[in-house]
Amino acid sequence: MDMRDQEGDAEGETPADARCCQARQLMAGVAVAVATTILLMGLLLHLVVLAPEVDQPSEASAQELMERLQRCHKEQHDLNLMLHAVTQDSRCSLCPGGWLWWRSRCYFFSVGLQENRRWNESAEFCQQHDSSLAVIKDAAEMDFIQGVMRKFPQFPFLWLGLTDVEQEGLWLWGDRRDVQHYMPLTVQWDADHRDCADLRAGGSLFANSCEDYGPWVCKRDS
Ligand SMILES: *[C@@H]1O[C@H](CO)[C@@H](O)[C@H](O)[C@H]1NC(C)=O
Repeated sequence: MDMRDQEGDAEGETPADARCCQARQLMAGVAVAVATTILLMGLLLHLVVLAPEVDQPSEASAQELMERLQRCHKEQHDLNLMLHAVTQDSRCSLCPGGWLWWRSRCYFFSVGLQENRRWNESAEFCQQHDSSLAVIKDAAEMDFIQGVMRKFPQFPFLWLGLTDVEQEGLWLWGDRRDVQHYMPLTVQWDADHRDCADLRAGGSLFANSCEDYGPWVCKRDS
């Protein structure tokens, strides 16, 4: 029998044609498979990425949320470590422990010490801590100090850096400016034996005996 006849039965294809046809079928199959895969991936992506946006909770989005949450936890942990390292570095801490930071200055309110001192001993404490008894330079600073005083109403007053010990009736701040220099303030109840100013609630100043014991406020550049 002639081989050609057999092949002729196969719709006149030569062996070469058959191989070519098989290759085409294979390519078509691959193309269909690829297209199907792409479609499936698209569908999956749609479920994973778009589903959360249209508020359709699915297993995929829940898992993704869990992963995001875990990433956030890890980042938070790393940030905490960094923050800890930074705040432990004394060059970076704005104020010493127990001091309050306000407008680039550090303030120490002795109320936490449970200890009262004479005016000169209060001034000495501030000096030993690189600071001075507070000099109040504007209304905002007065408000800040008043705010702290309101939190400790059991304390009758605060010693400030304001005295007329050098010359009776001439009230000078610690920087030797006149009491009126920064704000229109007056010291009430002035008398010979009361040479140290104390600050009361409401922002008024009273002349007091420097020998009295009381809480105080120090201020220093941060
Ligand atoms: C404060 O004043 C008192 C009495 O005026 C005096 O005895 C004391 O030594 C003074 N303290 C300081 C630290 O200057």
